Amino acid sequence: MIGIAGTRADPVIVHFAAHCVLDGVPFAVLDLMDVSASGDWRLSMPPDSADFVSGTETVRLADVTGLYIRPIYLGRTAQHAASWQGLMAGLAAWMDEADLRVVNRLSANQLNSYKPAHYAWLTANGLFVPPSLLTADPQRVLRFVTDGRTVVKPICGTRATTREIRASDLDRLANSEGPVLVQRMIEGDDVRVHVVGDAVIACRFASSAVDYRSDRDAEREVFDIPANLADLLVTKTAEQGLVFAGWDFKLDRDGTYWCLECNPMPGYSFYDRVCNGAISEALIKTLTGRLFTPPKEI
Ligand SMILES: Nc1ncnc2c1ncn2[C@@H]1O[C@H](COP(=O)(O)OP(=O)(O)O)[C@@H](O)[C@H]1O
Ligand SMILES: [Mg+2]
Repeated sequence: MIGIAGTRADPVIVHFAAHCVLDGVPFAVLDLMDVSASGDWRLSMPPDSADFVSGTETVRLADVTGLYIRPIYLGRTAQHAASWQGLMAGLAAWMDEADLRVVNRLSANQLNSYKPAHYAWLTANGLFVPPSLLTADPQRVLRFVTDGRTVVKPICGTRATTREIRASDLDRLANSEGPVLVQRMIEGDDVRVHVVGDAVIACRFASSAVDYRSDRDAEREVFDIPANLADLLVTKTAEQGLVFAGWDFKLDRDGTYWCLECNPMPGYSFYDRVCNGAISEALIKTLTGRLFTPPKEI
């Protein structure tokens, strides 16, 4: 049985659970918000057959053979936050010891939440990242902007819309206190690549908007990326300790793939609709162990 751990308020969790229903795959829901607010848990080290997590329903963890987890905290009180942190610490340690497939272990690489460190890691691992500058010095930003079209984007992993920045925008920047992250704008299509274990599923988007996610009319299609890039992404996903990742690229007119980021907790439902559920199918195969083909007898 698959365990689905997250919150009912998360459309990605709802989307994945709906695919399990369609496929007739048994699953149990661990609503982490309910568990941390009013439930209970027992997580032993090493894992024990009596371990459980109880929220709306009680789930015996020994019955779970694969776990899909998206921990998104939506609570408001200090007491709830403390309980949530305790649950996360317990689950993270438990998952590291438990003998089951997890998408994704909480201890896996989360450098994505600080973009400059993430870019350094991507560059060191054979991916091309557009030239970038993080600074609070408006003069340095001005020099960068003067050299070519530029976007400004969030420094952390929090969702925000990337947009173009021009020299005329810099007055506002001079009056703000924090640093900004600017990056050379790459013109071309967007490619989002989902890696699930060894499976690679890519979609391509053509849009006139800088951030195609704000364009409902963006053209979209399932797309094949070059085999050597697909192999690299499979390897680099696994090296981060991840089973599932969403890689963002800009594909320029010369055919260069510019890597924007590797999402360790991809909100994939939007892309899954483009590729007709192929990402959910790959997740279900991984979590139910259906990918395993026994060695042929000689
Ligand atoms: N350097 C860039 N050139 C052109 N478009 C960009 C650039 N950086 C980001 N974008 C656009 O904005 C989107 C979001 O950027 P991304 O780096 O993936 O950050 P996040 O998804 O965390 O907001 C990209 O998918 C792309 O459409
Ligand atoms: Mg992105």
